[in-house]
Amino acid sequence: MRVLPLLKKKMMIETVIAPSPQALGPDDIDPTLDLEREIGRLCRENNAIILAHYYQDGEIQELADFVGDSLDLSRRAAATQADIIVFCGVRFMAETAKILSPKRIVLMPDAEAGCSLEESCPPDAFRAFRDKHPDHLALTYINCSAEVKALSDIIVTSSNAEAIINSLPQDQPILFAPDRHLGAYLARKTGRDMLLWPGTCVVHEQFSERELLRLKSRHPGAVISAHPECPEAILCHADHVGSTSAMLKFVTDSKDRKFIIATEPHLIHQMKKAAPEKTFIPAPGADGTCSCANCPFMELNTLEKLYLCMVNMAPRVEIPNTLRIAARKPLDRMMELSPPAAANTDTPEPKPSFDPRANVA
Ligand code: 13P
Ligand code: SF4
Repeated sequence: MRVLPLLKKKMMIETVIAPSPQALGPDDIDPTLDLEREIGRLCRENNAIILAHYYQDGEIQELADFVGDSLDLSRRAAATQADIIVFCGVRFMAETAKILSPKRIVLMPDAEAGCSLEESCPPDAFRAFRDKHPDHLALTYINCSAEVKALSDIIVTSSNAEAIINSLPQDQPILFAPDRHLGAYLARKTGRDMLLWPGTCVVHEQFSERELLRLKSRHPGAVISAHPECPEAILCHADHVGSTSAMLKFVTDSKDRKFIIATEPHLIHQMKKAAPEKTFIPAPGADGTCSCANCPFMELNTLEKLYLCMVNMAPRVEIPNTLRIAARKPLDRMMELSPPAAANTDTPEPKPSFDPRANVA
């Protein structure tokens, strides 16, 4: 397994239309307005649905029509009959919704909600990396721009990556971008030698092994569940590793009663709802607290901005047609190769062997 040096960032194609200068701003909102009720009314009147990731604030999760992980949210976006998708997550998720559901209007509360993994992987540098390894299949984590998706062979998420890798011929060389920790975890789990892009998630990278062990010694019976975006130094202490939905399922099904949760702590909102009798302790950062584990991008979304994007019909995702069509191909391959939703566990059955060379254009 080789990790590459990080290359310089360049301009990317703009995929989000900003609100017009006449659009309403936060100061225009009547402070006595019942925002939850107004958002509900706008959803009904405009045939809109709200999709939210587990890392959103609890009040946004409560308003959403569906809360899920990256794969489940993509599936929902692809299947919806609503006219408008309001995506409460980050930009790569809203872009994915638009790519899979191009006839829908896709809104996002804050156009600045990006992702450190997406930032780490500029399209021109990724193209150069691909060109240097023409025999490698580009397996790319969904946490990337539409342009990087368009340059990839197959998109994966943390809940289907292992099954998709296991469906590829053993002798197929693979390059994996942009999360080197997830890539290294997958290489260990599947026994595959993969070339890794050097990106990381700012949230998962900050967990401290030392503080985790101190916390564990204070709660010896606590079971550790971790997201595979964490570094190996954290994952090696975990009793369970999985996507956000797999983590939620694990703690809900487990007979244990106390858990240390090594991922963005807003996931705990759903854990408490699913298992109110159990205790969930967020994994600590280097200062011994979990305060730095909130995703700074997810956190940009607020109830006010959610309301405003529905009133202003912006920020709105618009992807140039050629880019959208090119980015759809590797997403369709992901959908074809993913285990069915109900079998979405950490040890998925591999699908029948898939020959990437027969499919990649
Ligand atoms: P999943 O919810 O797919 O596990 O992804 C986690 C994440 O970091 C999303 O940005
Ligand atoms: Fe990106 Fe990490 Fe935030 Fe997910 S938690 S959106 S991977 S920065």
